[in-house]
Amino acid sequence: MIGEILGELVWSACETVGEAFIEAIITPDKEVRAAKKGGAKKAGKIIKDGGIVAFPTETVYGLGADAFNPEAVSRIYMAKGRPNDNPLILHIAKKDKFFELAQSPPEYAKKLIDVYWPGPLTLVVRKKLGLPSWLGSFPQNQTETIGIRMPKNTIARVIIEYSKTVVAAPSANKAGKPSPTAVSHISFENKKAATPLCGAWGSAPLSDGNCESNFLANEIDMIVDGGTTTIGLESTVVDVTGDTPIILRPGAVTAEMIEKTTGIAPITQTDSANTPKSPGMKYRHYAPNAPMTIISGDRKDVVDYMYEKTLKNIANGKKVGLLVTNSTKELMKKAKLFEGFRGKNIKIITFGDEFEIIAQKLFASLRQFDTLEVSEIFAEAVPNTGLGEAIMNRMLKAAEGRVEVVTT
Ligand code: TXA
Ligand code: MG
Repeated sequence: MIGEILGELVWSACETVGEAFIEAIITPDKEVRAAKKGGAKKAGKIIKDGGIVAFPTETVYGLGADAFNPEAVSRIYMAKGRPNDNPLILHIAKKDKFFELAQSPPEYAKKLIDVYWPGPLTLVVRKKLGLPSWLGSFPQNQTETIGIRMPKNTIARVIIEYSKTVVAAPSANKAGKPSPTAVSHISFENKKAATPLCGAWGSAPLSDGNCESNFLANEIDMIVDGGTTTIGLESTVVDVTGDTPIILRPGAVTAEMIEKTTGIAPITQTDSANTPKSPGMKYRHYAPNAPMTIISGDRKDVVDYMYEKTLKNIANGKKVGLLVTNSTKELMKKAKLFEGFRGKNIKIITFGDEFEIIAQKLFASLRQFDTLEVSEIFAEAVPNTGLGEAIMNRMLKAAEGRVEVVTT
């Protein structure tokens, strides 16, 4: 039913797919802008036929393949350079599908589905008997559980509908790099173009002319450009196999929201545990090329500390990147501390003030530091509450745990 309705939308509204727009369809040898009619259908067919497609979701771009096709799933692991023991989220377009895949989900999981699907929430459930033992994992491995998510972005759901399968999709970045929040973060390394796509599209060309974290033309079959993602951080991953929900990765559906909906206070168990339940959390993630340190404290102390660090690093011939809120940048201006640095080796990137904006901009900002080729990054901490928990989780990974608390 939904498929028919969404399908209708694709055909009748031309470039519009539900509430979203397909801005372009890019294949290794061709880029089609402003002629996207049927683009979602093509993308779905590629997945159905065993191919790999990068597509937008409301969180970050995903790299999708038919979850039931072991060759296609293996290709995803190869394209990303993803460790084999890290399972993939299964993406569905209808809530019914969840109940075909999940073994006896608890009542509270159904409440979460009612309230947050479609949306940025992945539920880890026990797999129904009879499903392939490797489903959701690397095809030579086995898992008893699967992570399932129904994205809100209508382009994603239409593509899943047309694929006529369940779509296994990790974030569409090379392993260890920030998740893509725009197509400029994906692109093909050796697309036949007048200028190399990496440079033209804003991602960082390496000295050999290739692009950091971009894909080879034979690694992906299509990229669907649906603009910048609205949330900017990956979905909340919640293990619902027990009596209490366990947050394995914080996201836009926060602990408070889960408690409000289920009446149960969730446990948060991210990477701090020795044996993380969500294997992905133990790997280096979201990391810019330069080492990053998070600075936590009162705004004025943060500014003073960043100033001192900048002085020292510049004296040592380094190029410094500062990631700060708009308010802190204002304070820097007022304090006139950084004026003397004009034209020197310092790049200040602001990522907004509200959590929603910071979340949207975080990964793109980290990538920008790569493009600017800074050699040291200092980033302002945000409060660890609500969506701030997900932001700090990603920032801590990018900083590989380095935090300086500077409040005097
Ligand atoms: O927002 C998102 O979730 C994006 C978009 C594309 O949907 N996807 C995404 O996928 O972030 P990925 O592969 O980059 O991250 C999936 C996370 C990993 O930390 C992985 O370990 C965890 O989910 N995960 C997947 N299946 C799991 C399972 N069965 N048990 C525990 N953790 C699981
Ligand atoms: Mg990822």
